[in-house]
Amino acid sequence: MADDPNPGISRRGFLKGVGGGLLGSAALGEGLIGAQVAAAAGPEAIRGLQTIQLSINGAARPVLVEPRTTLLAALRDQLQLTGAKEVCDRGQCGACTVLVDGEAVLACMILALDARGHEIITVEGLAQGEQLSPVQQAFVEHDALMCGFCTPGLVMASTALLRHNPSPTAEEIRLGVSGNLCRCGTYPKVFAAVEDAARRMTGGG
Ligand code: FES
Ligand code: FES
Repeated sequence: MADDPNPGISRRGFLKGVGGGLLGSAALGEGLIGAQVAAAAGPEAIRGLQTIQLSINGAARPVLVEPRTTLLAALRDQLQLTGAKEVCDRGQCGACTVLVDGEAVLACMILALDARGHEIITVEGLAQGEQLSPVQQAFVEHDALMCGFCTPGLVMASTALLRHNPSPTAEEIRLGVSGNLCRCGTYPKVFAAVEDAARRMTGGG
């Protein structure tokens, strides 16, 4: 049809694509459904692409997102802020931890759209120029990392902990970073680093 806004995609074909995706969802998962919908429907009207502004590390940053785009994807893929790591992508490892209005938040579990209007701090935003934050400095001095993949998340979780509780007990430190998994087993050094950072931040040494 000459005036068809989506040449090559009939309503019937589109619904068939969606239906096929739904039937296959149990076996193949939501990702494939999304891909089928996108393939069938194609245009941005379905994906809902839009440019939004996010406040990242004190600056307004435009990002082009779909409704399903996570904050983590926006940070890493759009803004090249790759400090927050994508490991499990399902809220279980803590590698993607950032601060949202001062709270530790898993960036893989929040939509970019829902991050609008909030102050987001990533690990890239902690240092002042060459000056590492007290938590970062303590991690370095205590050698609290091996492969380093979990480290940004641990640093952000520790930073959030010390903002809320400047003098945590050993137990509170363990609890504060309990959502962050480290397969290299750096926990003892992480705990020591957080204790040390707390001492320094409260003027204790
Ligand atoms: S990548 Fe977000 S919790 Fe694992
Ligand atoms: S340092 Fe390797 S996963 Fe934690």
